[in-house]
Amino acid sequence: MAGQPASLSGRDVGSFAYITIKDRIPQILTKAIDSLHRHKSKFFEKHGEKGLEAEKKAISLLSKLRNELQTDKPMIPLVEKFADTDIWNQYLDYQQSLLGETDGKARWFFSPWLFVECYMYRRIHEAIIQSPPIDDFDVFKESKDQNFFESQESVIALCTYLQELISTLEVLDENQLKNEFFKFLQISLWGNKCDLSLSGGETSSQKTNIITSLGELQAFILVNDMEHLWALLRPGKETETDSAAAVRVAIVLDNSGFELVTDLVLAHFLLSSRLATEVHFYGKTIPWFVSDTTRRDFTWLVEQAKSSSDKYLSRCGLDWESYLKVGKWVYHDHIFWTLPHEFCAMSQVAPDLYTELQKAHLILFKGDLNYRKLTGDRKWEFTVPFHQALNGFHPAPLCSIRTLKAEIQEAWSFMT
Ligand code: F6P
Ligand code: MG
Repeated sequence: MAGQPASLSGRDVGSFAYITIKDRIPQILTKAIDSLHRHKSKFFEKHGEKGLEAEKKAISLLSKLRNELQTDKPMIPLVEKFADTDIWNQYLDYQQSLLGETDGKARWFFSPWLFVECYMYRRIHEAIIQSPPIDDFDVFKESKDQNFFESQESVIALCTYLQELISTLEVLDENQLKNEFFKFLQISLWGNKCDLSLSGGETSSQKTNIITSLGELQAFILVNDMEHLWALLRPGKETETDSAAAVRVAIVLDNSGFELVTDLVLAHFLLSSRLATEVHFYGKTIPWFVSDTTRRDFTWLVEQAKSSSDKYLSRCGLDWESYLKVGKWVYHDHIFWTLPHEFCAMSQVAPDLYTELQKAHLILFKGDLNYRKLTGDRKWEFTVPFHQALNGFHPAPLCSIRTLKAEIQEAWSFMT
């Protein structure tokens, strides 16, 4: 796009991009290696000597990756055949083509941050799939599950609030309903603080009751377009031709653990309040950015909720299970979400997914990485409208629900 600003990269010394590539990614790799070490005996119990050999191989591949990064070696093509290997290597060639003759090979500190960080997580996945029979191991699973367990107090408070509210929904007037909608949007927003890639894999559970924290957190909301979202979904909206018509909301998920609970609670409220008739969730097909949600995480969390000793959490888990069974909730996988591409490339690279998203009345993109891919992770002027930064990506009305981590920001305008 003419006049498109440059991407953030590791060469911007002192930037969050630089700090991430120099310090945080090696720390995340070290924690991935530690996770393999801690599971050594389990690998042996399950697979015998082959399990030990696989653990050793995966650790050596991850250690090699960490060395490549720390010594700024050229970024090498993926070698293990997987659904997205060719697309990834085409993208690496594209990045290479952007470099001048003198720049040599695409390197960790001299390539766009968004690409480098995605490439690193995809190389972690390659190291694991090259190490059968532990090739289905999720090096981040332990920390994602721990985040859920350590946030139990806030999870239970949230589910209690939701279940008690549901019994009163019929008597709420439109303004009261709007306020509850805004409350659940903010809870989903602050759930995004629990991102383990930011904390380098250190636990970042939600210790306090998030509902009672909303008041003090208001001051930290930089841009608030919730009225636009309400106008799209509220009962009796102008566009409503038939009150029984389907209203589909898509949630492009981010982190598992506590944040996923806040997203499921928001989706539960949308159905119970009849602001939506179906919710479609989009997760990751491989372990991604430490805490991002995979299908395995999603089904695990619903199961954990269902089997909880707390009556409200268990009630939620049973409701969530039934929504999935009857198709009111649908979980979708697509490899596009774990490619390095900006979302404006989706209609070319993954036209089936773009068509799927076009069926939504509203798409909620959760988290910082999705925001970076929506806007190409470029150094936009803060005055640039969000619509312009989307660079032609308009499958449906969309918004970003994000706690600001990477530097990138634009002037906000709700997409319609
Ligand atoms: O550096 C922080 C970071 O790893 C970013 O690189 C990335 O965009 C973000 O965290 C992931 O955050 P979220 O889980 O909100 O997408
Ligand atoms: Mg994330």
